[in-house]
Amino acid sequence: MKVLVATDKPFAKVAVEGIKQIVEDAGYELALLEKYTSENELYAAVADVDAMIVRSDKVTKEVVDHAKKLKIVVRAGAGYDNLDLPACTAKGIVAMNTPGQNSNAVAELAAGMMVFMARNQFNPGTGSELLGKNVGIHAYGNVGKLVAKIAKGFGMNIYAFDPFVKKETMEAEGVIVCNSVEELYSKCHYISLHIPATEQTKKSIGYDLLSKMPKGGTVVNTARKEVINEEELVKVLEERADLKYASDIAAGNHAELVEKFGLRVFATSKKMGAETSEANVNAGLASANQIVKFLKTGDTTFQVNK
Ligand code: 3PG
Repeated sequence: MKVLVATDKPFAKVAVEGIKQIVEDAGYELALLEKYTSENELYAAVADVDAMIVRSDKVTKEVVDHAKKLKIVVRAGAGYDNLDLPACTAKGIVAMNTPGQNSNAVAELAAGMMVFMARNQFNPGTGSELLGKNVGIHAYGNVGKLVAKIAKGFGMNIYAFDPFVKKETMEAEGVIVCNSVEELYSKCHYISLHIPATEQTKKSIGYDLLSKMPKGGTVVNTARKEVINEEELVKVLEERADLKYASDIAAGNHAELVEKFGLRVFATSKKMGAETSEANVNAGLASANQIVKFLKTGDTTFQVNK
């Protein structure tokens, strides 16, 4: 059996070594394709593999069609909007993610971005403090939960909206539960975004929600750029000179945003939420273990195309 690690954005060396060890201990062969520059390279690499590990790499219908022997693909991470699930299902390929494995890295970045934006992106001038401010966790999954924990340390008041998590669970963790997304945005000076990109959530954060934020409102997006309505973001930033937007995944119109709004907007140059060696090791090794377990025993825990 052959397992391919196909990562445009490579894992840390220590994670690749760990994956190799797990794969070879299971009696399989590891193939590595990193920093590839064309889809053709990926098509060639998947041709003879039984399993594959990816990060945000797009596993399209074309990739699946070239992967004649592929049985399982694992997205080493949380969001699996990069996998064409219907194409996988049609070919009987099991698709999985590794929920929670890189969450701490993303949560730490979200917290850091709140401080960064509160302090003029570390430029001279009077900033503000997080102490006593309200932070809205949207939504309360693996990352959101950790952001809440860190924000508590800053002395922030934690609000959350998540229709998929029980109210009691959130309240038991000291969170003030909002009954609607509108309530969350109305009450919170900071919003930390943790919703996946789905047909329901794409472009769902726009003028109506953002204009409800209190004075000095800041949105920190370490989730997906697709959830923002970018045209409406421009409109609300034009109308409200107090609002700020920071993102780990540059908006399609980032250059326009910077030109118009300067230090009120920020984006990392390359998505870096999960770019820690710890997160790479956690998610990479979990992916390899899930593949071995599936190939040896048929275990489909974490399958997302059931
Ligand atoms: C995730 O969904 O797990 C994160 O967005 C990490 O993505 P990356 O593997 O491309 O860094």
